Amino acid sequence: NIEQKVDSVLALMTLEEKVGQMVQYNGSWDVTGPATGTTNEKKLEQLKKGLVGSMLNVVSVQHTREAQRLVMENSRLKIPLIFGYDVIHGYKTMFPIPLGETASWDMILAEKTAAAAARETAASGIHWTFAPMMDVSRDARWGRIMEGAGEDPFLNAEIAVARIKGFQGDDLASNLTIAACAKHFAGYGFAEAGRDYNTVNIGIHELHNTILPPFKAAAEAGVATFMNSFNEIDGVPATSSSYLQRDILKDNWGWDGFIVSDWGSISEMIPHGIAENKKDAALLALKGGSDMDMEGGAYETSIEDLIAEGKVSEELIDDSVKRILRIKFQLGLFDDPYKYCDESFEKKELYSKQNQNLSLEAAKKSIVLLKNESDILPIKKSVKSIAVIGPLADDKDSPLGNWRAQAEPNSAVSVLEGIKNHVPESVEVKYAEGVKLSTGERSFLKPLTINHTDISGIAEAKELAKSSDLVILVVGEDAYQSGEGRSQAEIGFLGVQDELIKEIQMANKNVVMVLMNGRPMDLSWSSEHVSAILETWLLGSQHGNAVAEVLFGKYNPAGKLPVSFPRSVGQEPLYYNQKNTGRPSANGEVTYSHYTDLDRDALYPFGFGLSYTDFEYGDIQLSQSSFTKGEEITASVTVKNTGTVKGEEVVQLYIRDLFASITRPIKELKGFEKIELNPGESKTVSFKIDEELLSYFGRDKQWVTDAGKFHLFIGGDSVNLNQTEIEFK
Ligand code: IFM
Repeated sequence: NIEQKVDSVLALMTLEEKVGQMVQYNGSWDVTGPATGTTNEKKLEQLKKGLVGSMLNVVSVQHTREAQRLVMENSRLKIPLIFGYDVIHGYKTMFPIPLGETASWDMILAEKTAAAAARETAASGIHWTFAPMMDVSRDARWGRIMEGAGEDPFLNAEIAVARIKGFQGDDLASNLTIAACAKHFAGYGFAEAGRDYNTVNIGIHELHNTILPPFKAAAEAGVATFMNSFNEIDGVPATSSSYLQRDILKDNWGWDGFIVSDWGSISEMIPHGIAENKKDAALLALKGGSDMDMEGGAYETSIEDLIAEGKVSEELIDDSVKRILRIKFQLGLFDDPYKYCDESFEKKELYSKQNQNLSLEAAKKSIVLLKNESDILPIKKSVKSIAVIGPLADDKDSPLGNWRAQAEPNSAVSVLEGIKNHVPESVEVKYAEGVKLSTGERSFLKPLTINHTDISGIAEAKELAKSSDLVILVVGEDAYQSGEGRSQAEIGFLGVQDELIKEIQMANKNVVMVLMNGRPMDLSWSSEHVSAILETWLLGSQHGNAVAEVLFGKYNPAGKLPVSFPRSVGQEPLYYNQKNTGRPSANGEVTYSHYTDLDRDALYPFGFGLSYTDFEYGDIQLSQSSFTKGEEITASVTVKNTGTVKGEEVVQLYIRDLFASITRPIKELKGFEKIELNPGESKTVSFKIDEELLSYFGRDKQWVTDAGKFHLFIGGDSVNLNQTEIEFK
């Protein structure tokens, strides 16, 4: 069995070799293979000596085989490397960004796209992805909001589990699956003011009730690894938090995988101001429970000294090494270190037709229809000329997102191309860029240069809009406006897009705005003026075809927002599951919780999304209205498609605990089901409510369910809900 094998390998290892397993090296930022060049000579030597446990950013069968060969042919114990890479929403074939895919509320889909990404990744010689990210995030300014599942802990947990199942499958040892990584543990999505890497200040109840549930679900689902996070929580950098990593994750949840630090996050405890040097930082991280040092250079230089000085015991090191070896055994790497190295499979699997089809399916399902005045969509037969306008209309690169792994630049289907692929022959399609959104170099690490001045193309675009029956206006965000290090203080249309939008709207009243973006945006002007708004996120390789299928009615949009869209950036952080406060409602004076200059609610709320058909919800039926320990209630609702076309609806269940030992949210998502209905068809959806579903981390720092009354809501979004009451006795 694996535990015996782990112990037998450990018994052979010197302290130096053990420390080596806890070291992860970067290949290179160009992702060209094993480290090369003068600065990397030392890395090559360490690999040969077997003093490296893992590498990241080494891709392709050719390069992973070469790095593995260095270890297998030269090192004493021949412990295989594990290769990790950021496969966030695809490897070569790009699927929608995670926030976008969450809008599908389709867990089977999320599992399928993760499985397809895993096959491509494994085919390329890589064993491990640094995904899924499950940081609950409620601040649209935060650049990495694109990478998670939005503002709700329950939805984050559900989709995290689906993605883990997809990546890891039933058998980690299969050549088609890879190890997943639950990240970032913890609190990273709560960066103050939405500024990446910033301080996080949350209390213990927020931590347990909001941040940790997806991680707990991931641990229970058997995720192989965790990654800790750059941020501090209440003065303690997560990388050194023994409360998070040891007490909660390893001890309380009994999880037996390994924790990799985030990039250099161990050494970053020096600028955090709690370590004087790398050795101090290594000591803090070790005690805190971090098992592997990602390109930080702290563990490799310090652990042996720390042990010699008696500052840490070798047992701590042994525990980390065992965790790392365990995953390597589970992956089957000791049986065959080159088992993912098959050039012919690599060639066949990457960017396959099958994966393109799945990418299209995922893209369509992720689109959210936010506005559709006078049913302007789907595009009517009377439309004979379409103007496709906007800086993102023919952008073949932005749909690939910021974390695009090995996608070919400019390989996505643009909206313009998609429209041309789907438009009936009798309809004329013309294109004008209008304005540029960004200029100059676009890359993962470099700041983006936004065009703030050049409006010279607006006149031509306006003329085109005037002479067309309908305008498809494609605006929003460049791929490099969201992602790591891409926080923004403004969440409107950057550059000169506002000028373009307003001019086009004046030229033609039939404007369908197609939004491309990685974060919730301020759509307050557009929501009042343009006829339709389609939220398309960054949908990956098949972006344009998916958008066109929705525009022309080949696919009826069914996406629902996984995050609230604000009326202004000033409302951020904004989320539906807020607390009531002691002063929730208007009292004839100004002294209640509100803004004096703007509504406090969302412009487009969590869970919201329109369809080309309509759904009618019946009253909630309860199997019984009160229950006690060991019992459960069934809450059912009948939903009818009252429109003329087939459609899908996400039926959502929320609860509110009316009296508790701590303040509780005014609504919390606790279940959902996606159904498909033909015109005139009805279906009954049922949810089970038991004691656990109503529980929370309470004042006594235990999970409890209070006796008392709860509101129960069912509906199609977090605002439009039918309501009833239940009691737990
Ligand atoms: O996986 C990422 C992490 O999410 C952010 N820092 C870098 C890591 C490796 O690329």
